[in-house]
Amino acid sequence: MSALDQLSHEEVARFRQDGFLTVPCIADPDEVEQLRGVFDRLFQTAAGWEKGAQFDLAGTDDDQRPAKLPQILNPAQFAPELGEARFRAKALSVARQLLGAETQLWFEHAILKPAHYGAATPWHQDEAHRDDPGTDYEQVSIWVPLQEATLANGCMRYIVGSHLGPILEHRSPNNDPRITALECIGPFDPASATPCPLPPGGAAIHHCRTLHGAGENHSSMPRRAYILAFRGPVRPNPEFRGYPWNLTKKTAAQERKVAWENRGGMLGRASR
Ligand code: NI
Repeated sequence: MSALDQLSHEEVARFRQDGFLTVPCIADPDEVEQLRGVFDRLFQTAAGWEKGAQFDLAGTDDDQRPAKLPQILNPAQFAPELGEARFRAKALSVARQLLGAETQLWFEHAILKPAHYGAATPWHQDEAHRDDPGTDYEQVSIWVPLQEATLANGCMRYIVGSHLGPILEHRSPNNDPRITALECIGPFDPASATPCPLPPGGAAIHHCRTLHGAGENHSSMPRRAYILAFRGPVRPNPEFRGYPWNLTKKTAAQERKVAWENRGGMLGRASR
């Protein structure tokens, strides 16, 4: 990435060929430090738990044990300063280079992989989570580690070229529909994965169909990652009726969200 915050032609070509790309710096050290502090506060205070926006991606939320892979959806709703982070403009610019000028921020999430016991992120294609029948679009995710990301703490791993293949079969981990995560059970070889260690504030950028996962955190430090997902132009696709593995999901976070809304928690929903 150049000083102009643009990917080079070579980088764009590599993304199209491999389905992912890493860049060494999208957020500067000051900003990374500030974001890290916000993340730690949000996770320590269980921000969003009651409304189902924070949950254990790798667990069932109901066993009283500490979450192994806590995640917060759209964390800026709980920390407005995240909405002002400078790297967001660079991320949008990169996403538009890859998916076109109409590309917009679609959603974002914060993931914490706790020191020593953070769970692996199962192999999956982000597109397998898609639950908006009748539409088609491309998506890119920009994954930014807020400390070094290494093999020991669970850096991203990708299967080169997997974005050019089909959506493979997925299921809930352990076939347990109470777990939010999905795991790919289609044919691929995890041993062929490319690990992507990164410095703090670097970025791993991937297409929604690229198979990816991340290992456990065996280190003594938490591994935090901020992910911005961008959506390109949306086209109608009547043939897409949703994926079967999403229809059976029944998570505690979904139940908390419904309960919260029923208590009148989300004014926007009621009045829209
Ligand atoms: Ni993913």
